[in-house]
Amino acid sequence: MPIERSERLFINLSILMLVIFFIAVLVSAFIGGLQVPAPAGTIDPAAINQTAPFDNPGVRELVPGKRYEVVMIAQTWAFIPGEIRVPAGSEVTFRITSRDVIHGFEITGKNANVMLIPGQISLVKVKFDKPGEHYIICHEYCGIGHQTMYAKIIVEP
Ligand code: CUA
Repeated sequence: MPIERSERLFINLSILMLVIFFIAVLVSAFIGGLQVPAPAGTIDPAAINQTAPFDNPGVRELVPGKRYEVVMIAQTWAFIPGEIRVPAGSEVTFRITSRDVIHGFEITGKNANVMLIPGQISLVKVKFDKPGEHYIICHEYCGIGHQTMYAKIIVEP
């Protein structure tokens, strides 16, 4: 029995759509560089206090006024340090790990969003162009105090 013309058209259209989606995935992953962030390293969560640089969390100035690194620990239910100050126009690399359970790391108003897994170190690079305030919020449910888990970023003029 011959295939109806309209039937053949819809079969061809659905094959075409699959090809287009497949190409879109390949282009965004390999040409656009859109990939899931890989862990930047591993750490023994029980030995965080003895392992550099997490034995001394805080803000480090790499290039004054321009580049900073923030070493940060997430734990139930706080980020350490809980407040960060950087100047406007700076590029900040957050080096973060979790001491206990899975936490989230999201910076309000920025394209920064990772999951913090005990044993893994995550790197997040963010540029702060304008003075103002941002919050780092935990977006993975981590227990009874989850909704109180946040830190503040103050971008100074
Ligand atoms: Cu930490 Cu939710």
